[in-house]
Amino acid sequence: MVHIGLREWREDDAPAVLRAFQSPDLRDQAPWPVVTPQDAVGWIASWHGAGHAFAVTADDQVVGNVAVTKIDGHGTGWVSYWVVPEARGRGIAVAATRRLARWAFDERGLFRLELAHRTNNPASCRVATLAGFRSEGIERGKLCYGGVRYDVERHARLATD
Ligand SMILES: CC(C)(COP(=O)(O)OP(=O)(O)OC[C@H]1O[C@@H](n2cnc3c(N)ncnc32)[C@H](O)[C@@H]1OP(=O)(O)O)[C@@H](O)C(=O)NCCC(=O)NCCS
Repeated sequence: MVHIGLREWREDDAPAVLRAFQSPDLRDQAPWPVVTPQDAVGWIASWHGAGHAFAVTADDQVVGNVAVTKIDGHGTGWVSYWVVPEARGRGIAVAATRRLARWAFDERGLFRLELAHRTNNPASCRVATLAGFRSEGIERGKLCYGGVRYDVERHARLATD
């Protein structure tokens, strides 16, 4: 049984961050390309004051990230998550996102958590649903990558759900 934990990101996690962003389906998750050790250190530092990100650990190895950002004056925050390919399919994203939501509601005092995924990302949809984020509909043609427009499904979980 794998032990899943959330903890603060540390500067010495930079090699794990650099490895993670070499995965093609994680590159879009970073706001800028993370291709050097300095980029990875910068990515970790960028979370200071920008909401809250937690390193996700499985048996003390860093395997992912969960974050709440864009916290506004209405008690609403934006959730994101990723898990490195070699750790997927073991319930890590679902467990970590549930734990993040509890932290956001109980410790951070938020009321509404939102997230969204492209409709061609069924794994993310499943993670959102299993973590208690109900679907709130499709935003058509919302994102554009490589000249292709993608529909996006919005989910949200309330503190009272
Ligand atoms: C989405 C992601 C975080 C899932 O991480 P994970 O740790 O493998 O997720 P979990 O194991 O907790 O749960 C995955 C669920 O999705 C399901 N799933 C996985 N791939 C799937 C697919 N292609 N189609 C449908 N369901 C799928 C799994 O079966 C599981 O559901 P189950 O428990 O009912 O079987 C991971 O794939 C990832 O980081 N992807 C790239 C980044 C990304 O897309 N982030 C979200 C952006 S919105």
